[in-house]
Amino acid sequence: MRIEGKEYRTIWFENNVVKIIDQTKLPHQFVIKELKTVKDAINAIKVMEVRGAPLIGGTAAYGIALAVQENNDLEFIKKSSEDLIQSRPTAINLKWAVDRMMKKLSSINSDQVLDIALNEAKEICDEDEKFCENIGINGLKIIEEIYNKKKDTVNILTHCNAGWLATINWGTATSPIYHAHKKGIPVHVWVDETRPRNQGANLTSYELNEEEIPNTIIADNTGGILMQRGEVDMCIVGTDRTLSNGDVCNKIGTYLKALAAHDNNVPFYVALPSSTIDWDIKDAKNIPIEERNSEELSHVEGIDENNEIKKVLIYPTKSKAMNLAFDVTPAKYVTGLITERGISEASFNGLKKLFK
Ligand code: MRU
Repeated sequence: MRIEGKEYRTIWFENNVVKIIDQTKLPHQFVIKELKTVKDAINAIKVMEVRGAPLIGGTAAYGIALAVQENNDLEFIKKSSEDLIQSRPTAINLKWAVDRMMKKLSSINSDQVLDIALNEAKEICDEDEKFCENIGINGLKIIEEIYNKKKDTVNILTHCNAGWLATINWGTATSPIYHAHKKGIPVHVWVDETRPRNQGANLTSYELNEEEIPNTIIADNTGGILMQRGEVDMCIVGTDRTLSNGDVCNKIGTYLKALAAHDNNVPFYVALPSSTIDWDIKDAKNIPIEERNSEELSHVEGIDENNEIKKVLIYPTKSKAMNLAFDVTPAKYVTGLITERGISEASFNGLKKLFK
């Protein structure tokens, strides 16, 4: 998608380095960062220079390729794969991508191993882009249906950033929105700010602005009253891990939005590529929920009058804070799962029909 009119993907390999858009600097600075080693890739995932489940997966895949480029020793590559998997716990795409890379490399014993690793990482990214595009084509039908009934702007609420910046391109939750906009359907997006890291305000609103899609940032607690007032036609969110029973783990606060949507008969859709489905964990209690540094709550970041990024403390110095990064929305509150293969009921049978 576009930034200042120029098309980008979120990650690419060029001149022996992996290039990413540093998301910790957005929206105030646009910085392309180079990852030269697997350690750089691990750090980029940990400090969230890259984030969002599919992009974490893509970065981990390129991380393995960087490890091969650094030191083509099996022990080093294995240790790197373990370190990558540890870098963030909740998004299943990370382990999925590392396992796929390691499987590919395990059957190879040649001097072409680097080329093969790089090709597989690119394949993972290209596939994600295609899947997200298909999510858009499938999700467009829902937006179109609402528009045909309403004959007026379709108001869509989203949480966190499940936009193209969280994937390789298109995004998951935003892909149907981009497709609707391209088709001329008037859409407006309510963007949850998404405290504490403000992925909604800093990333979703930013990328929608760049594509000229009308949007309004709201505080995370505002969605409920907007739904009561009839100002939300549908919600679409992304997911970091969806269980085979349709339970959806996503950015903290998603569950409360789903409850409000249920109470107000607002359709609540979750968009995901199949790489985000966890077929192994059966009980949501077993999903590893990331707990991040409480400084993300107690401090806020922004630019000062000299356009410099500054961080300031906003809590009482003696207060403790707790920063759980994800929650789980039970399947019963999910109207449907928008995938690359079609729209499925949030249930084992629904998913099984699409993904045997
Ligand atoms: O902590 P983050 O910013 O990586 O969390 C991202 C989300 O929760 C997204 O909604 C999710 O990964 C889906 S991305 C297409």
